[in-house]
Amino acid sequence: MQDLLTAALKAKQNAYAPYSGFHVGAALRGGSGGLYTGCNVENSAYPEGLCAEATAIAAMILAGEKHIAEILVVGDGKQLCSPCGGCRQKLSEFAQDTTPVHICDPQGVRETTTMGELLPVAFSSRNLE
Ligand code: THU
Repeated sequence: MQDLLTAALKAKQNAYAPYSGFHVGAALRGGSGGLYTGCNVENSAYPEGLCAEATAIAAMILAGEKHIAEILVVGDGKQLCSPCGGCRQKLSEFAQDTTPVHICDPQGVRETTTMGELLPVAFSSRNLE
């Protein structure tokens, strides 16, 4: 877990967030053990911005990995930096209900939950069968 936090904090340093000023880092452990990181990338056309989780997923897919074994997100502030609704859906594509999600601040883990807790009754590929 510490490896994920270290990697996510490093990614967070590269966040491009001139509009919100809110820097986020994410790290995913793939099923094969590899680590993939991401940071938020904002845009002057606000809705075009990307969340840290989304860019980490892109890095994972680019590396040829399609299974997420563990998720960590780190952000600043008093509130838990929990993945937004859209990111929950994006993460669920490659994770399971039991996949741990560590919600962190720069000091460490604030809360560990699971994908199933964050996105119960998820819409998934099973809906399309
Ligand atoms: N953000 C993330 O990167 N991940 C989330 O799950 C929540 C929000 C980013 C998006 C935006 O750049 C900034 O945080 C403020 O919303």
